[in-house]
Amino acid sequence: MEERSLILLKPDCLQRGITGEIITRFEKKGLKFVALKMLLISNEKAEYHYAEHRAKPFFKELVDFITSSPVVAMVVESEEAIRLARKLSGATKVEDAAPGTIRGDYVIHTSSNIVHTSDSKESAEREIANFFSPDEIVMYEKDIYHWI
Ligand code: CMP
Repeated sequence: MEERSLILLKPDCLQRGITGEIITRFEKKGLKFVALKMLLISNEKAEYHYAEHRAKPFFKELVDFITSSPVVAMVVESEEAIRLARKLSGATKVEDAAPGTIRGDYVIHTSSNIVHTSDSKESAEREIANFFSPDEIVMYEKDIYHWI
């Protein structure tokens, strides 16, 4: 069953100059990109994005961080896109993130973990709609030339 996931390359990703490398990881996996843009996230959109963490002690830190500098937002599509994107990203807690995953290879602090990926179908739909209008999602056939 085809599904979509939101991926955010967070401010630390752009600031560290590793955006291309991280996009490449998702691209090489074979996920189909159906939307991609750079933006500065507003406070309102950040609070909506992180609504489930509103009661957490680090909520303000989360919002301040994600709004501090530009992000790259992407929508990927494939069978099991949500689980695949999360596997590539690795565990949220930095000490649990396995080598070979993005966080396992690039991250040393849980609070600046360079990438966000949706954790469920419901979250994905809500998160995608927060950052993309329907006309920003590009519909096309992938692999028409069978290059991969
Ligand atoms: P993300 O996938 O964007 O979703 C929630 C974020 O909360 C998570 O990535 C981490 O960056 C952040 N987070 C989780 N635990 C902590 C923590 N203990 N302190 C600060 N940030 C945290």
